[in-house]
Amino acid sequence: PRIVFSGIQPTGTPHLGNFLGALQNWVKLQRDAQPEDDMIFSIVGWHSLTLPQDPKALSIARRDMLAVLLAIGLDPQKSTIFHQDENRHHVELGWLFNCITPMGKLRRMTTWKGRLAASRNANDESEVDESMLNAGLFTYPVLQAADILLYKATHVPVGEDQKQHLELARDIGDTFNRTFGRIFPLPEYVATPTRRVLSLKDPSSKMSKSSPDVSSRILLTDTDTQIKSKIRSAVTDSIREISYDPVSRPGTSNLLTILAACTDEDVSDVAVRYADKGHGALKSDVASAVSDLLREPREEFERLSKDPGYLEQIAKEGAEKAQARSEGTIRKVRKLVGLV
Ligand code: TYM
Repeated sequence: PRIVFSGIQPTGTPHLGNFLGALQNWVKLQRDAQPEDDMIFSIVGWHSLTLPQDPKALSIARRDMLAVLLAIGLDPQKSTIFHQDENRHHVELGWLFNCITPMGKLRRMTTWKGRLAASRNANDESEVDESMLNAGLFTYPVLQAADILLYKATHVPVGEDQKQHLELARDIGDTFNRTFGRIFPLPEYVATPTRRVLSLKDPSSKMSKSSPDVSSRILLTDTDTQIKSKIRSAVTDSIREISYDPVSRPGTSNLLTILAACTDEDVSDVAVRYADKGHGALKSDVASAVSDLLREPREEFERLSKDPGYLEQIAKEGAEKAQARSEGTIRKVRKLVGLV
């Protein structure tokens, strides 16, 4: 049987990249799961604190994220859906993993290097300086490893940007197994069909929650009008013919990727179909495909977010299920390291 685990940070409304790169695939995996499989999906509150969050906004985003997960079709009867911060075992195992993870490995994480580079630019310094960054940001992938291994997950569906973190999780699991005794299976990366959705405004970077330009991303809650205008203003190129070439034509290819993901087609088929149609037609079809895809989740989200009592109940049940699942692991781990 497979144990599938994945997580998402509650740092605001998810965007099309989160949806196509991760969430949509979670729903598919849930649909295709065998009865003996375990599906576990977490809203990772502790991770979100590695960047400054307004407490009020975080509290809302955290609840909204649960509403989103339900709205897209995750089913609490079939999957364990819970807040990471409501199961203490995550921090416990995370601490232990901190104690067996060399700093050098964490310094090689591209997410960490990205943060360093960003803070360097912001401070206009050429010297690499970690002193302004918090330690949580540095050990972030260690907590992620704990999330995964706590449930002895075998499969982790994530976007491409998280692949290196998963390799670290395997590495940490392997170190633990060799040092204290075999307990953790080494989790496999499950590639999402849509690995990387790019920013609509700067196709050299991924679509992200943190970009200051709101028109660079489509939110799950965007209206049809907003979707249309964001897609229409998406950066492409001036070559008339449409073709799929992610290296030299990232903007155009990104639109093809999005369309193929919405219609569940092969991106090369879509590219052939649009070869002579031009960017105008492509954009207008992408906009309607995205609108069609998001309509139901958006309406369901709006309905659910008006029902905090229900969301609270689901969160409570999810947390209890998660704790019950991880209790055995944490007990065994404590025994293996001598904390009994
Ligand atoms: P997060 O919250 O940044 O993103 C959630 C998921 O969305 C994917 N994703 C994308 N996929 C394609 N194109 C994009 N532009 C794009 N942007 C985001 C991410 O790959 C991810 O799958 N560290 C994780 C959260 C986490 C986690 C875990 C994941 C914590 N513990 C354990 C898996 C297992 C993160 O920050 O995801």
